[in-house]
Amino acid sequence: MVRPSAGLGSKRRVAGRPILWPPGVTGDDLVRGRNGIGFLAGVGLSAERVGSFRGGSSRVFRLNGENGIHLRLLEIRDAEQVLDLIDGSRPYLREWLPWVDATRTVQDVQTFIHSGLQSYVANSGRELGIWRDGRLAGVIGLHYINWTHRLTSIGYWLGEEFQARGIMTTACRTLIDFLIGEYQLNRFEIRAATENFKSRAIPERLGFTNEGTQRQAEWLYDHFVDHVIYGMLAEEWGNDRG
Ligand SMILES: CC(C)(COP(=O)(O)OP(=O)(O)OC[C@H]1O[C@@H](n2cnc3c(N)ncnc32)[C@H](O)[C@@H]1OP(=O)(O)O)[C@@H](O)C(=O)NCCC(=O)NCCS
Repeated sequence: MVRPSAGLGSKRRVAGRPILWPPGVTGDDLVRGRNGIGFLAGVGLSAERVGSFRGGSSRVFRLNGENGIHLRLLEIRDAEQVLDLIDGSRPYLREWLPWVDATRTVQDVQTFIHSGLQSYVANSGRELGIWRDGRLAGVIGLHYINWTHRLTSIGYWLGEEFQARGIMTTACRTLIDFLIGEYQLNRFEIRAATENFKSRAIPERLGFTNEGTQRQAEWLYDHFVDHVIYGMLAEEWGNDRG
């Protein structure tokens, strides 16, 4: 795990862009796998090099949750499993997710995973698979990490057969525990369409605050939906959660 230290980390430049690493972490740590937070040597920013990283390394980013759940950085080798999960749940996922129709092939999923690996290397986000008793159940990701303001936004989905078992609530709790304890992030946002009550139930179950509604925030195939924005602060975490 990342070793927390006082204050924010140093400025580094990745892909021509200055970024602020979390406390105690350097870009070299991320690439070389020091501090146990990654093993992505060779994950430059080319698809070919990411494609050659087929994992099998126990050192890749991984978090253990309760009830047989663990989260692990999605790797290129996971693409077929992710596609199978999507294929088995298309109408279910399509109701609330705008990318389902455009995600048809293993290559489409590899592109998504590649982008998640790039954001992991840049320390600006990540896409994690959620495994329940060894089976891929869904995906949870950080859309971005703003190190200046120490905030992030969480998105998620489950395969239809894995719903209603508390898997996503546990995955969110595990991830936020890590992001507060190890990265010292301060603010967490979850957005859901106003009518997506199953998604809204997750931040509500975890004690997030409903901070308001953003009108026509997302285009879902043939209509706009409003978003409810839920926020959680580090100082509130653990005070009132399910
Ligand atoms: C949003 C989504 C992940 C929610 O899934 P979910 O199964 O309702 O969420 P969880 O895995 O946390 O499970 C909660 C359910 O399990 C039940 N449960 C069982 N054991 C539980 C436990 N230990 N802890 C919490 N809940 C538990 C809860 O009562 C709840 O069921 P209920 O809705 O009937 O009350 C899922 O509906 C989904 O993927 N939808 C399509 C994509 C989507 O909308 N993504 C979000 C876009 S913003």
